[in-house]
Amino acid sequence: MKLWIPGPTEVRAELLAECARPMIGHRSDAMVKLHERIDPHMRSAFGLAESSPSRVAVHTCSATGLMEAALHGVGRRALCIVNGSFSKRWAEIATLLGLEVTLLKKAFGEAASPDEIDRALTEQGPFDALTLISNETSTGVRTPLAGVAAVLRKHPRTLWLVDVVSYLAGMPVDFDTHGIDFAFAGTQKALALPPGLTVLCASQRYLERVRPAVRRSYYLDAVRVIDGHAERKTPATPCIPLYFALARQLEDISDGVTLPEFDRGLRGAAAWRARYAKHERMQRATEAWATKHGLEFVPAPEHRSWTVACIRKGALDVAKFLAAVKQRGHTLSNGYGDLKDLSFRIGHMGDHTEADLARLLEVCDEVLATVALR
Ligand SMILES: Cc1ncc(COP(=O)(O)O)c(C=O)c1O
Repeated sequence: MKLWIPGPTEVRAELLAECARPMIGHRSDAMVKLHERIDPHMRSAFGLAESSPSRVAVHTCSATGLMEAALHGVGRRALCIVNGSFSKRWAEIATLLGLEVTLLKKAFGEAASPDEIDRALTEQGPFDALTLISNETSTGVRTPLAGVAAVLRKHPRTLWLVDVVSYLAGMPVDFDTHGIDFAFAGTQKALALPPGLTVLCASQRYLERVRPAVRRSYYLDAVRVIDGHAERKTPATPCIPLYFALARQLEDISDGVTLPEFDRGLRGAAAWRARYAKHERMQRATEAWATKHGLEFVPAPEHRSWTVACIRKGALDVAKFLAAVKQRGHTLSNGYGDLKDLSFRIGHMGDHTEADLARLLEVCDEVLATVALR
């Protein structure tokens, strides 16, 4: 069975084997070496220059934990862009933590424009933090980061917190170029690893604001996690098997091992860019397939994710379509939240190849041609 849901996604056998290595102590030299293997490549994943003062870290928890961690100590007022289920969750977390939350609400399937964000920051500000889900996995909406970055340069007090959960390793984050202050992702999406770890990146500016602030958390304190990572001492016992797999996967991506044949030989930043280009081609292939069948995407063309296709059901019965595709060996996903049964999603991310995707779309063709789906 091939897993095409928008996370967890397929994990290569080599990476699963990494998880089965004999255990090591988390305060051992071997663990220090594991941290050292991870860091340079993780900096590439976030698009950091070698000289960048921004800091990366790994934490043992799911991405929702980092939504919470990101907010501790940022200040009193947050503007939360809500355009899908995960951005709604982040706003709920901010409210629970006692922040004064203002919502910039968009219909599920739409992205907030730079002008709308600028207006909200100007007319309802000042805000201490802005939360954005760069790739709303629930709707397949990608918010282009460059436009938001340009707006935030005019609002220097506002820290920019970005969920790159289904974006990292599938599209270029360019953390410093965009002036992002805090970004995080779980490992089960475009990094194509099992769930259980998060990777994160914080700017100097973020750490200067948050470090002296009162932070009412121990396990979800980003400063403690980042400092612990730098000292090669995680604050609590980490999920060591996943660290082995993360180190191997990051090295493999940087060495071009996971790229299509014609891109093999690319290394470092060029290999990461080629990984993003593969994801963009997969998005286009899925779009061409949907167009052929008269099916429409939920997001507008300029906001379509490179990692998650969210397609309106048209005349299809989603449950019957998914069941017929599953019978033929591929698991797709129903729509999420408000879009359940009204759309379906294909997670074409991580180490799925273009040849794999072509086979999946052929299976979908066959289902559409032969099975009664209305
Ligand atoms: C964009 C986004 N943010 C946050 C999460 C929450 O991640 P987790 O379930 O790993 O906590 C998800 C999960 O799918 C997601 O897609």
